[in-house]
Amino acid sequence: MSAIESVLVENRVFPPPAAFTAQANVKPADFEAMKAKAERDHAGFWADLARENLIWSKPFTKSLDDSNAPFFKWFSDGELNASYNCLDRHLNTPVADKTAIIFEADGGDVTKVTYRDLYKRVCRFANGLKSLGYKKGDRAIIYLPMSIEAVVAMQACARIGMTHSVVFGGFSAKSLQERIVDVGATLVIAADEQMRGGKAIPLKPAVDEAYGMGGCDAVRHTIVYKRTGGNVAYGAKDIDWAKVEAGQADDCPAEMVNAEHPLFVLYTSGSTGKPKGVQHSTGGYLLHAMLTMKWTFDIKPNDVFWCTADVGWVTGHTYVTYGPLAVGATEIIFEGVPTFPNAGRFWDMIQKHKCTVFYTAPTAIRSLIKAADTTPDVAPGKYDLSSLRLLGSVGEPINPEAWMWYYKHIGSERCPIVDTFWQTETGGHMITPLPGVTPLVPGSCTQALPGIAAAIVDETANDVPNGSGGILVIKKPWPSMIRTIWGDPERFKKSYFPDELKGYYLAGDGAVRDAVHGNFRITGRIDDVLNVSGHRLGTMEIESALVANPLVAEAAVVGRPDETTGEAVSAFVVLKGARPADKESAAKIAKELRDWVGKEIGPIAKPKDIRFGDNLPKTRSGKIMRRLLRAIAKGEEITQDVSTLENPAILEQLKQSL
Ligand code: WTA
Repeated sequence: MSAIESVLVENRVFPPPAAFTAQANVKPADFEAMKAKAERDHAGFWADLARENLIWSKPFTKSLDDSNAPFFKWFSDGELNASYNCLDRHLNTPVADKTAIIFEADGGDVTKVTYRDLYKRVCRFANGLKSLGYKKGDRAIIYLPMSIEAVVAMQACARIGMTHSVVFGGFSAKSLQERIVDVGATLVIAADEQMRGGKAIPLKPAVDEAYGMGGCDAVRHTIVYKRTGGNVAYGAKDIDWAKVEAGQADDCPAEMVNAEHPLFVLYTSGSTGKPKGVQHSTGGYLLHAMLTMKWTFDIKPNDVFWCTADVGWVTGHTYVTYGPLAVGATEIIFEGVPTFPNAGRFWDMIQKHKCTVFYTAPTAIRSLIKAADTTPDVAPGKYDLSSLRLLGSVGEPINPEAWMWYYKHIGSERCPIVDTFWQTETGGHMITPLPGVTPLVPGSCTQALPGIAAAIVDETANDVPNGSGGILVIKKPWPSMIRTIWGDPERFKKSYFPDELKGYYLAGDGAVRDAVHGNFRITGRIDDVLNVSGHRLGTMEIESALVANPLVAEAAVVGRPDETTGEAVSAFVVLKGARPADKESAAKIAKELRDWVGKEIGPIAKPKDIRFGDNLPKTRSGKIMRRLLRAIAKGEEITQDVSTLENPAILEQLKQSL
C-alpha cells in the first residue's frame, strides 16, 4: 500500500524548468555546495554569509555564541543598523532612483516612491521621533494599515534603535492595550482609519479605548497618520504625522546597534491564554530576510515583487518591510482586500504593475478559486499574467488541489511555486523549495534551506524514519531565530526548548517526510493553536475571552476544517443561566458572544459555530475531552471510546445544539 502511495506521489513531481534553473540565483550545484559547507562548519557558513550580505559598522569576530543556550546569540560583537542596510546602502548605486514601493490604495490610486524618496521620508520621520525625545531602546506600538507610512514608521524606529511592535489592524482595543502594556511602549503610531473593501474602519478610537483600559500611562504620544481625515476624536497626547515630519532634515544618521539589539517584538498565539511577544534580533534576522529573498524568491534587479501579507504579521515584516528593501527590489504594497471591487483585483494588479514574483496565502487562493467559478468575467484567464515568473505560498498547508489551480491558472504551468514553511519565531523561510533546484510536489514544502537543520523526531527526540510522522524540530540554532519571549525567558525555554527534546527547537507542528525523496509535509499544529485564514489563534485565548463574558460559565474551543479558511473556530459554551430554550435565543446569545470575542481579541477570532450545552464532555478527573468536541465540530460520528466520560449524554445534546 505504501509503495502505491509513493508512486502516486511521484507522479505529481514538477522538476524546475531548465530555463528557470539557467538563470537562477541558486543552481543545483550551489545548493549542494552550500548544504555541504553548512554541514561541515555551521557557524562559519552563516558567518561568511553575514559578512557578504550585511553592511557592518563594526565587524563581528564571533559567529554563534551558544554559551547560554537556548539563549543563542549570533554575530554578537558586531554592530549595524537594519534601516541603513535597507536604504543607505543603495544611495550611491543605481538602485537609488529605482522604484522601491508601488503602493495601490483600496480605491485604486497608485503612489510610487523611489529608494531615495523613501530614504528621505524615513529620515524625516526618524528625526521627528528624535525631536519628540524617542531614542534607542524605547518601544513603539504601530497600529497602521498597509501603507507606505507603515514601512516608514517601522524603518524609522529601526533607524534610531527603537524596537517596534506592530499590532495588526484587525485586533481589538483590548488586544492593543495588552500589547502596549506588555512591551512597555512609550509611543503609539496609528492611523485615524483604514480603508478596506470601500469602507472606512476606525483605528484611532481603539487606541483611545485601549488607553482607557489602564496601564498605558507610559505612552507619551499617539502619532496619527490621517489616512482618511475621518471624524475621530483628538486629545492631548495626539500629534499629526505631518507635524512630526514637518521641517525635519532629509538625513538622519542611522544609530548603530549591537547585532543582538531587538529590532522588533511581534505578538503571536501560543497554547496559553496570553499571546507571546516574539523578540527578534537585528543582524541575524536581517541576514535571513535578505538570503531568502535571493534564494527562495530568486530576486533580480528587474523583479516586481509582491507579498500580499499585512505588516501586522511576520510575513509582512520579513517580506514587505525588510527583505525586499535590503536587496533593493521593487515591491508592491496593497491596502485593500482581494475581492474589492471584485475578485479579479489581484490579477488586475499583477497585470497592471507587471508583477514577476507573487507571494500569497492558501486561504486567498482558495477563496479566489471559488470566485473564479461564480464571477467568471474576472477569473484569472481574463487577465494578462505573463509577467509572472515565480509564485509563493505561506501561512498554512496548501492543499494539492489549490496548489494545482495556482500552478495552472496563475502560473500557466510555467512558474515554479515555492511553498514556504516558517513561523513568527523563525524570522524567515525554513523549509521551502528553491525554484531553480527543487522538484516540486503539490502540498509539500519539500526541503530545508542550507544551514537549517530541520528533522522529524518522536517525543524523546529520536529521529523517526521517512514515511512516519512525528514532531518537527530544528536541531541547530540559526541566525534569525527568536531570541526570547519579551519579558518571559522561562516561557521561552519551556515553549521552544522543552527538556525532553534535548536542546532541539520545537516548532509546534507535526510533519512527515516522504519515503522516496525525504520531502517534508506539514501535517498541522500539535499544540492548541489554530490557523484560520493563515492567522494564528490560540484556542486558550478565545476560551479566556469567552469566559470573561458575564453570561458564560465555561467554554471550550476547537478547530474544524473549513474549505476556505483552512480551519474555523468552533466553540462549546456552558452559560451561567439556563441553556437557550429555542433557536432564536441561541442565535441571539451566539451573536452577542461573537461580537464579544471580536471586541476582546479581534474579528478574526470570532467563532464560526457556537454550541450551547448544560456541560462539557469531561473525564471523571474533570478534563475536557477535546477530541470528542473536535469530532462533533466536524460533524463526525463519535467512534472513540467514551467510557471514561463522566457525562456521556452531553455529547448528544451538544451535537443537536447548533
Ligand atoms: C503554519 C507564518 C504548512 C504552521 C509565516 C506554522 C505552514 C504556523 C506553512 C506559523 C506552510 C506556515 N505549510 N504550514 N508553508 N507556513 N504554516 O507564526 O502551522 O503566523 O507553525 O507564521 O503556520 O504561523 P505564523
